[in-house]
Amino acid sequence: MNTLTNKKVLLGITGSIAAYKSADLVRRLREQGAEVRVVMTAAATEFITPLTLQALSGQRVHSLILDAEAEAAMGHIELARWAEVVLVAPATADFLAKLAYGHANDLLSTLCITTTAPITVAPAMNQQMWQAPVTQENCQRLQERGIKIFGPAMGSQACGEIGAGRMLEPLELVQCLEGLFKKGSLVNHQILITAGPTREDIDPVRFITNRSSGRMGYAIASAAYAAGAQVTLVNGPVSLSPPLGVQISPVYNAQEMLEAVMTHIPTTDIFIAAAAVADYRPVQQATQKLKKKEAVMQLTLERTPDILATVANLPNPPFTVGFAAETNNLIDYARSKLQRKKLDMIAANQVGIEGVGFDSEENALHVFWTEGSVELSRCSKKEIANKLVDLIIQRYQLKKRLSS
Ligand code: CTP
Repeated sequence: MNTLTNKKVLLGITGSIAAYKSADLVRRLREQGAEVRVVMTAAATEFITPLTLQALSGQRVHSLILDAEAEAAMGHIELARWAEVVLVAPATADFLAKLAYGHANDLLSTLCITTTAPITVAPAMNQQMWQAPVTQENCQRLQERGIKIFGPAMGSQACGEIGAGRMLEPLELVQCLEGLFKKGSLVNHQILITAGPTREDIDPVRFITNRSSGRMGYAIASAAYAAGAQVTLVNGPVSLSPPLGVQISPVYNAQEMLEAVMTHIPTTDIFIAAAAVADYRPVQQATQKLKKKEAVMQLTLERTPDILATVANLPNPPFTVGFAAETNNLIDYARSKLQRKKLDMIAANQVGIEGVGFDSEENALHVFWTEGSVELSRCSKKEIANKLVDLIIQRYQLKKRLSS
């Protein structure tokens, strides 16, 4: 079941060109199982017709406060009571100001001061209007009252300018709403995950890398998000679509991965290093393409920074989970890595077996911690990621209890 299944979403639409995206937003919300009722301001109806939203929401659209017919079916008070969440998307600068000062001169603003449901807004406006001190002050007032502001995003605007002021995309808004209703053991926890390979340049056209697809790390990121966490994924070059709800930080080589990880570590509760970081990089990277000369060529390599060990050896490290890919002596190698790198847990997989591990759909893991271990038998990376995240939550909570 999705987080938004059967949730009653009152969608307010105000007069911005971004209103055309609200039609898609209604579809996306309904795809997640939400019930949607739409309230439009008079200006919004100049940008998109109520008929479109009626067809998409399957419900009558409300616009006027003094509408005898609408009041007979579902009056404005009932609508305010019906809502489990109010999302005003797009919210114009004018609407934010009205909401900040409690005006009630149309149906949407009246509903907003009547409802007890959480109110959320997705601003959309010209970037100068967004930056204007008065708009920022209004937003601050709204936030102080617990109103959540989703976005706006940066980018090119309908007016031809570039800057912050674009309404978030419908799918992003769906994720924001899901975040409001999310329950799970990792709510209010920050999880940082590395995934995929890294590339270490030899010259402008060649590099050292490995066969990691990033799928395991991506599956763990989705599982952690589903458990309620705020998830950041630092990944090397992969060709995967970003998992829903996860913040992506793409990097190229081991050094960049280390830097990205270290910027997030101060706020991280659990760090999971699923990346197949290249262990070595060329000491020198040629600035021009290397030409073939001798029959034998030697490349001098140096160790890359060990990101996992760097994190685990910090004075106040997060709960740290590593991976080990082994072709032989899995138990011994995994246990010694657990100890040597000072990890809380290590998930080891046997590589070199057809169909599991690197660049494949399935995986099997043997997970170790100081006092014990468990085998997670072969299944899809999605299933194994869910089991691994459950295990991480158990061990993490135990460690927290013991240290408090
Ligand atoms: N790791 C890392 N930074 C590196 C190398 C590895 O963060 N420069 C992390 C990986 O993400 C993984 C774990 O460390 O979680 C793997 O440990 P590693 O010592 O590299 O094991 P193997 O790659 O299996 O290499 P080896 O067996 O040669 O020690």
